[in-house]
Amino acid sequence: MAVTGVDLHVDKGEIFGLVGPNGSGKTTMTNAITGFFPPQKGRILLHGQDITGLAPHKVARRGVARTFQNLALFNGMTVLDNILLGRHVHMHPSVFRTMLYPWLARPEEIANREVVEEVIDFMQLEGVRDEPVDAIPLGLKKRVELARALVAEPSFLILDEPMAGMNQRRRRSTWRASSSMRATSGA
Ligand SMILES: Nc1ncnc2c1ncn2[C@@H]1O[C@H](COP(=O)(O)OP(=O)(O)OP(=O)(O)O)[C@@H](O)[C@H]1O
Ligand SMILES: [Mg+2]
Repeated sequence: MAVTGVDLHVDKGEIFGLVGPNGSGKTTMTNAITGFFPPQKGRILLHGQDITGLAPHKVARRGVARTFQNLALFNGMTVLDNILLGRHVHMHPSVFRTMLYPWLARPEEIANREVVEEVIDFMQLEGVRDEPVDAIPLGLKKRVELARALVAEPSFLILDEPMAGMNQRRRRSTWRASSSMRATSGA
């Protein structure tokens, strides 16, 4: 079994570290919480509500965002478009409504853009925003992943080995970014 007998509780405002050797089930836990691999047994509660077995997009809509250990960016799309996708959970107008009444969608689009711009600035991705994401170095790709998770303004953020492959300087700045985002969002 990949994960068995795990019982943990993360409080609001808490930074919870899950440590274990390779193959101990850290990523599997993340996949279970975020709906990628629903658990065969047990329950997962978010703010007291049962989210066990919900599809990944539904878990995302409830306020959970994650990064992927092996990166899950959309190659061929720009850095900006990859980050915008993280904002999708906050975009509501249907395609038809937007086609018929574009002015209705406009204020929402502007508000969403503001958050995205703030995060791009904050993660220092301005210089590569229009680059295809497959053309940038690994360290930057990791930052794009984190940016995509942050624009969702999640109440629960799961980072799966966000600093693997980074040097000491980059680790420090990523750590600062995650901590101050937590402070500003009050999450
Ligand atoms: N879908 C799956 N079906 C069966 N076994 C799996 C599945 N996913 C992962 N495993 C196995 O479960 C174990 C836990 O893997 P997991 O990737 O969760 O560990 P990890 O703690 O994230 O490791 P690492 O530190 O290398 O990232 C491994 O033995 C892995 O091969
Ligand atoms: Mg892992």
